[in-house]
Amino acid sequence: MSKSKKRIPEGEAILDMPELTMEELNESFRKRMWEYKQFVKFLIKGVGIKDYSKILEIGPGPGWITILLAKANPTLKITGLEISEDMIRVANENKENEGISDQIEFILGDAKNMSEIKDKTFDAVISHDSLHHWEDPIRVFNEIQRVLKENGVFCIKDGRRDIGLPAKFIFNIAKLFISKTMSYYWKTSIMAGYTPEELNQILNQTKLKNRYELKTDLFDLIIHNK
Ligand SMILES: C[S@@+](CC[C@H](N)C(=O)[O-])C[C@H]1O[C@@H](n2cnc3c(N)ncnc32)[C@H](O)[C@@H]1O
Repeated sequence: MSKSKKRIPEGEAILDMPELTMEELNESFRKRMWEYKQFVKFLIKGVGIKDYSKILEIGPGPGWITILLAKANPTLKITGLEISEDMIRVANENKENEGISDQIEFILGDAKNMSEIKDKTFDAVISHDSLHHWEDPIRVFNEIQRVLKENGVFCIKDGRRDIGLPAKFIFNIAKLFISKTMSYYWKTSIMAGYTPEELNQILNQTKLKNRYELKTDLFDLIIHNK
């Protein structure tokens, strides 16, 4: 086991707060467009999302990944399942402003109980930066397995808590260029993240047990199908 600090969970839904509305948070998310584009490239080339796929994104937040993916391939249909009504409001505004409404639908729901979604509905399930918020990741991973078609693909990317010295160095430099609020939320999300060992332990208790691969980089954990 790595000797990382104790995990400090964050709540599930990100909602409007007196000090930060979701419209304001959206402006900070917008600044992460380069990172979102890299993820979308990986989804298409690395994970192999095919034309005409029906995709579920868990926790799309303001919806930038959904929008970029829809723009990258106009044959895709994407459902963003989001637990926060405030985030859905902003995601719908972004979708309208980007003129990309017919490929995307944002729905209110909780990934640990997607009872409104039938078994084997989706060709792909994706998620970015949301896992560390999930109250019950085992139930969410089992739900992912349930709503995926037989040969469906999945990719869940999230920050890791056990970042090493190079990532800490980059974080400290980046802090000089971003707002205090953003560096606060970045830090709390790192502290809520899992280590690779913890995530393997979780996944091995789920129905995805024999279907996943876990990769890591400086900041992130990436789970995808074998
Ligand atoms: C840090 S944001 C990331 C948003 C977006 N994916 C991105 O990378 O910009 C995490 C999102 O996951 C949502 N979320 C957390 N738990 C959820 C759950 N159980 N079901 C659906 N959405 C959830 C939060 O409300 C929030 O919008």
